Amino acid sequence: FSATTPYTTLPSVLLVGPSGAGKTALLTLFERGPLYHNNNPAVPTPVAETHTSQTPSTVELAVSTDRPTTTYRTDLDATGATAKKFLLIDTPGHPKLRRHALAHLASPSATITPSLLVSPAAQKGEGAETSKSKLKALVFLVDAAALADTDSAALSSTAEYLYDVLLTLQRRFLRRSGSRAPSNVPVLVAANKLDLFTALPAALVKSQLEAELSRIRKTRSKGLLDSGEADGEVVGGEEGEGWLGAVGSDKFSFKEMVEFDIEVEVIGGNVVGDGPGADKWWKWIGERI
Ligand code: GTP
Ligand code: MG
Repeated sequence: FSATTPYTTLPSVLLVGPSGAGKTALLTLFERGPLYHNNNPAVPTPVAETHTSQTPSTVELAVSTDRPTTTYRTDLDATGATAKKFLLIDTPGHPKLRRHALAHLASPSATITPSLLVSPAAQKGEGAETSKSKLKALVFLVDAAALADTDSAALSSTAEYLYDVLLTLQRRFLRRSGSRAPSNVPVLVAANKLDLFTALPAALVKSQLEAELSRIRKTRSKGLLDSGEADGEVVGGEEGEGWLGAVGSDKFSFKEMVEFDIEVEVIGGNVVGDGPGADKWWKWIGERI
């Protein structure tokens, strides 16, 4: 199977979220997954050592197709299960580096070009071909412990990033054209670090983010009005361009995104320590590959 499947046709899942949320830690956990099978004591605990990512990175993973209950710890080669391979793309969360992630999403085509798939010649600017991968899902990782700290700016900065991500997907949907239009991308908001007792449970992560997204939406639309741009006319070319979700709604809810073919689900978990772990996230991804 693997020998005959060209690398370039693999679908991909994009990992985004603010700096320090645990994206690289999660990628490493999934990549080393089979090593943790049966809690093998010879393998050190996952990935406490990470550092701020500067560039996107990609790993190749596989989900079982005939045993949907298997976890990321299952060694699919050993069990002989039928596997579907995909690429997991880690992006840097630093505000100055978010363009990497947003550029992937802004493209009106259904495909993206992970750095891994760029041929060495193309990287050197020699114009050789790059390969495209179909974007299947997006995981937005948040630090649920940081969100609980009301003194920090974590909630507002996390929600700002999420707003930009969702608005980019919404615009992509509104600009779709023709029969080859991309199907849109489901979003998993993964509430990480639930091993910490200070962390907000997933339901609260959801409601706090929705409340903050409402606030951002109000502020941004007011900004447009104040600058005189709106003036009874449509803003930014298309009607409601900067407005996330349903026009006329007061409180933002993730359900509003369904109108734009974007499913949003919030699920809690953790990469290190004791807690619900990462199995539910793995299952969510597996169902969308
Ligand atoms: P950027 O690369 O800057 O965007 O950050 P990142 O999202 O890749 O974060 P990274 O994976 O580097 O993790 C940041 C820190 O959070 C590391 O010290 C991790 O060990 C820690 N961390 C990740 N997941 C968990 C978790 O589930 N629980 C706890 N307690 N710590 C975690
Ligand atoms: Mg990182």
